[in-house]
Amino acid sequence: MERNKNIFLIGFMGCGKSTMARLLAEKTGAELIEMDETIEAEAGMSINEIFEEYGEKHFRDLESELVRRIAEKGGAVVSCGGGAILRPENVENMKKNGQVVYLSAEPETIYKRVRHSTTRPLLNGNMNVEYITALMEERLPRYLAAADKIIIVDGKEKQDVLEEILLTIC
Ligand code: S3P
Repeated sequence: MERNKNIFLIGFMGCGKSTMARLLAEKTGAELIEMDETIEAEAGMSINEIFEEYGEKHFRDLESELVRRIAEKGGAVVSCGGGAILRPENVENMKKNGQVVYLSAEPETIYKRVRHSTTRPLLNGNMNVEYITALMEERLPRYLAAADKIIIVDGKEKQDVLEEILLTIC
């Protein structure tokens, strides 16, 4: 892995970006950036609170600003929020100085992983496979267009996904 390059893990909510980014950072020694956690820490509020008080657009602005900063700095493994690829400028910034890896998971896999979560405003009140399927279909072209590499995670052990990512970024 080039020292100054970023690795951006993208994919739908619950596809395993945070876990895989942590494992990848441990393995490579790169800095770990969890975008949602960073935004929450900087805002002093949870993602739910940011959506409730300021709306989704404000959250997306914070997200874009963070991607810009990460792209300038380099050298990190980044767990992106599931919607970070929605703005073309974010994808451009990711690609400036980084590699984008899409962790692909079926809606059923996602549902199993997130069904007890209450920290994702887009899924609060929409916690079902149908909604996840529809949102994923809407976003799929964006994920695919942003991805330098696609890794299917359904039914795989974490260590196997990690090996695949490592092969991709070497
Ligand atoms: C979002 C995904 C979330 C978080 C926010 C919006 C999305 O991140 O950024 O709730 O639009 O897909 P995770 O993918 O880490 O859950």
